[in-house]
Amino acid sequence: MNKVTTLNQFIIEQQIRVPQATGGFSGLLHHVGIAAKKVNREVNKAGLVDILGRAGVENIQGEEQQKLDVYANETFIAELKASGECCAVASEENQDIVIFDEDLSRDGKYVFCMDPLDGSSNIDVNVSIGTIFSIYRRKSPIGEVANLDDFLQKGSQLVAAGYVIYGSSTMLVYTAGNGVNGFTLDPSIGEFCLSHPNIKTPASGTIYSINEGNYEKFPVGVKKYIKYCQETDKKSGRPYTSRYIGSLVADFHRNLLKGGIFVYPETKSHPTGKLRLLYECNPIAFIAEQAGGLATDGERRILDIMPESIHQRVPFYTGSRDMMKKITEFLQFFNNI
Ligand code: AHG
Ligand code: MN
Ligand code: MN
Repeated sequence: MNKVTTLNQFIIEQQIRVPQATGGFSGLLHHVGIAAKKVNREVNKAGLVDILGRAGVENIQGEEQQKLDVYANETFIAELKASGECCAVASEENQDIVIFDEDLSRDGKYVFCMDPLDGSSNIDVNVSIGTIFSIYRRKSPIGEVANLDDFLQKGSQLVAAGYVIYGSSTMLVYTAGNGVNGFTLDPSIGEFCLSHPNIKTPASGTIYSINEGNYEKFPVGVKKYIKYCQETDKKSGRPYTSRYIGSLVADFHRNLLKGGIFVYPETKSHPTGKLRLLYECNPIAFIAEQAGGLATDGERRILDIMPESIHQRVPFYTGSRDMMKKITEFLQFFNNI
């Protein structure tokens, strides 16, 4: 029989390699896995809600049917609180940071950033969606109440980052700074099992992912790069293939495994970009780099950007190393003329 490594076994094996580890981080990841399974359960029956009549019952009680991104947000927050290892959460769904002010949580060493449900506009049409998360060590002293400064740290300070993709199968992919590993949920035993050890992204690829409907609003360097992707050049595999789902997690995950580039640049309607530094770009950038890829805002390495606010948005370029180098050449050349 093949030996299966579950997420929890893997976490413990990693912990044993760090002599000073106290188990706190392992405990936190364990609870992330539980939250992911709960959200997965609800996502999987999203289409059944009307059939089961749940919405009707809630309407009689005068309550709005909970949107899945609210459910995901509340579920992750509850699990993080229960872990006792996390003292505060910054979420795309909450205006302010959520501070856990109980004795247990005040001693938690970590703060957690998340996009609880990414690509949520795709729920209704049965297309892959995800959860994106990242973990920092707090800056405030253990035992005190956490504060905003605990979150205003560069991505290069991240302890870990990951995502869950609720797709044709459900996967959890994460890095703690020593490579990227992917776990597929085996529904028959309810466990995430190591299926993609030590993921490395190809140095180049033939997929470009960008919302071309915004073409007219793109910076000139991006427009020229798109034309480059569309030109025929057998040697470099062009024309490239255009693939854009509209769920960052799904678009990134595909490109990570197959090789490609994802771009969400600044546009006239989103002058500082659309994607959020803390909840989307930093965690994805950490994973991209750990897998051998790159991530920038067009000029700066994403992980070197000092956040000024928790909901800050940045232009986002990430993917295979050679493709990232090529688009950077286009951006530099056309920004300078
Ligand atoms: P969210 O559902 O968390 O708001 O994120 C949606 C994001 C991201 O997943 C995706 O890459 C991007 O928005 C798509 O934006 P466009 O529809 O503007 O292309
Ligand atoms: Mn998102
Ligand atoms: Mn979201």
